[in-house]
Amino acid sequence: MTAAKTLEIRNLAKTFAMAGGRRVAAVRDFSLRIEAGEFVTLLGPSGCGKTTVLRTLAGLEEADTGEVLLDGRPIHALPAHRRRVGMVFQNYALFPHLSVFENVAYSLRIRRTANEAVGKAVAAALAAVGLDEMGARLPGQLSGGQQQRVALARALVMEPDLLLFDEPLSNLDAKLRVQVRGELKRLQKRLGTTALYVTHDQDEAMSLSDRIAVINAGRLEQVATPEEIYARPATLFVAGFVGQVNALPARVLERRGDTLAVTVLGQTVEVPARDGLAGAVLAIVRPESLRLGPPRAGAHTGAVEEVEYRGDRVEYRVRLADAAVVAVEPAQGRRFAAGEPVHVELNAAAVHLLPA
Ligand SMILES: Nc1ncnc2c1ncn2[C@@H]1O[C@H](COP(=O)(O)OP(=O)(O)OP(=O)(O)O)[C@@H](O)[C@H]1O
Ligand SMILES: [Mg+2]
Repeated sequence: MTAAKTLEIRNLAKTFAMAGGRRVAAVRDFSLRIEAGEFVTLLGPSGCGKTTVLRTLAGLEEADTGEVLLDGRPIHALPAHRRRVGMVFQNYALFPHLSVFENVAYSLRIRRTANEAVGKAVAAALAAVGLDEMGARLPGQLSGGQQQRVALARALVMEPDLLLFDEPLSNLDAKLRVQVRGELKRLQKRLGTTALYVTHDQDEAMSLSDRIAVINAGRLEQVATPEEIYARPATLFVAGFVGQVNALPARVLERRGDTLAVTVLGQTVEVPARDGLAGAVLAIVRPESLRLGPPRAGAHTGAVEEVEYRGDRVEYRVRLADAAVVAVEPAQGRRFAAGEPVHVELNAAAVHLLPA
């Protein structure tokens, strides 16, 4: 096994020519550093440039500008087969007429690797994904989850410096997706290979990643740990992309040392001070940071508009005088019915402010 490598992407940009000579920018001034052995997820909506970033890193697409370095060595001018980059695709892209063994061996055969070395490398790659016994089968004789593991073995077989994943689990059913993503994460940590994983599923990104890079319209909006992205999103786009959010109009009253006094939902709360926030701001509040209770005199009270039962929790839509909010409560707790008056209390510690 080779030592893990640091990936550095500097100012990558890629446009595509459209019919009529117009060009669309798929990736704009994209810079990202991934530490050796780190698992980073590129998260964003359809068409935002995720696949284009991966294809450029793998050498399947040529960037207009920008540099790609592995442990400080530029690889962006190298042809794909000399980059030591393994890529796993959404549709597996297995050869249906070749055995599992030969599918995994393919890139080594192209490199004219000696038979004995091929045998060893393929056996190791198949063992790594738990398919030691399946080498003789055809892809069509495997389940979807097993086929995806063959695709992973094929990416692992030449001991890549960098593993790229393009929505590898989206063809699997929900239960299998959760199982395979757990296996994938454990395998990546065991091998220690630096990884960049593309998805538009925030759940997948949260559960897999050391850090998440949120991309919107070809541009990075935030790169941070899952906790940071969820609790302290840099933009409203990020806030809304990684979960349900109440974006509430709020007002900064004054600075008190290293906190700000802010009015939101009729309450005055103190939140950690940050520069550039004054006057009208947006308070980002997750549904679980609102607590519902019986109405109280003089407190912020509204009416339950909608109730959605979710098994482990219940989601409420509550109409207040100046806003509609979404709140989530554990299903075992006190329940409220549609039309019932409720008191809404804000967990001040969980309020995150953005410029209005
Ligand atoms: N070969 C191409 N020719 C022209 N435009 C392209 C080409 N490939 C991608 N694009 C455009 O570049 C943009 C980014 O595409 P890309 O495939 O990278 O998005 P994505 O984030 O992977 O989306 P999805 O989640 O749907 O897979 C889109 O607007 C797309 O239409
Ligand atoms: Mg894509």
